Amino acid sequence: EEFLATVAEKSHGAALRGDYEHADSHYVVKQHWQAYTEAEHDLWRALYQRQMSLLPGRACDEFIDALHKMNAADGIPEFEKTSRELFAATGWTIIAVPGLIPELTFFEHLANRRFPVTVWLRKPEEFNYIVEPDVFHDFFGHVPMLFNPVFADYMQLYGKGGLKAMQLGGLEQLARLYWYTVEFGLINTPQGLRIYGAGILSSGGEVEYCLTPGTSSRHIHLDIQRCLNTLYKIDTYQETYFVINSFQELFDGTAADFAPYYEKLKQGQALPANTLLPDETELLV
Ligand code: PHE
Ligand code: FE
Repeated sequence: EEFLATVAEKSHGAALRGDYEHADSHYVVKQHWQAYTEAEHDLWRALYQRQMSLLPGRACDEFIDALHKMNAADGIPEFEKTSRELFAATGWTIIAVPGLIPELTFFEHLANRRFPVTVWLRKPEEFNYIVEPDVFHDFFGHVPMLFNPVFADYMQLYGKGGLKAMQLGGLEQLARLYWYTVEFGLINTPQGLRIYGAGILSSGGEVEYCLTPGTSSRHIHLDIQRCLNTLYKIDTYQETYFVINSFQELFDGTAADFAPYYEKLKQGQALPANTLLPDETELLV
């Protein structure tokens, strides 16, 4: 039941938590790993253990396998260590940032295969719910998926697509795709639906909720234009989960030029988050 800001929230301009004073012009900071307290490492361990009690049979294998290789269970990880392993696997690196960063900078990092990870950890009273993404959401939720070559390529192209969308006035539309895939995406597997979205994977409550049949949320196959045109909820569980059949399908489905999509969608009305169109089938039964 965690709210996770992403690209879309970066423009709202609310006061941000985090130390931006020491950031460079690309919003990069030092992680200062030595400065984390033992209490913060304990809190990380508790968050990690709680998620691991929920994720088997719910998170996709790609996430679980990479997470195990990352050895991140025993306290807040050192970014540089994982970054070296990640670079060897897919050519991505992890950079430390003070918190939310401007869209342009965010897209530039992604386009260059750099994933920004917030350095600070939530407070104990935020165990179940946090307003801004912290190191647990960013590192635990996002980094494992970057070990998957196809997903890693998708993220880079998303960054390039973001820079393009800024030129075309399509940011609102493109942000919905990030939300419904990178943050709240589900994937269909022979064993059933599994989670790959970081917003769910780092959340205490939504892991179970999103895979429970019979809730008021729908689980429908991802259609790119439909997704670009669908509003989302930032302070409740999602009312729609878009399901992919493979990461390759996601990659191939987003290869088209989005310029005509933006043109068309900007003319019309976006769909409410709880829309179910007549030709859509509920996939979680
Ligand atoms: N193909 C998209 C475009 O032309 C860019 C994109 C790629 C967006 C992958 C999202 C993910 O704008
Ligand atoms: Fe996120």
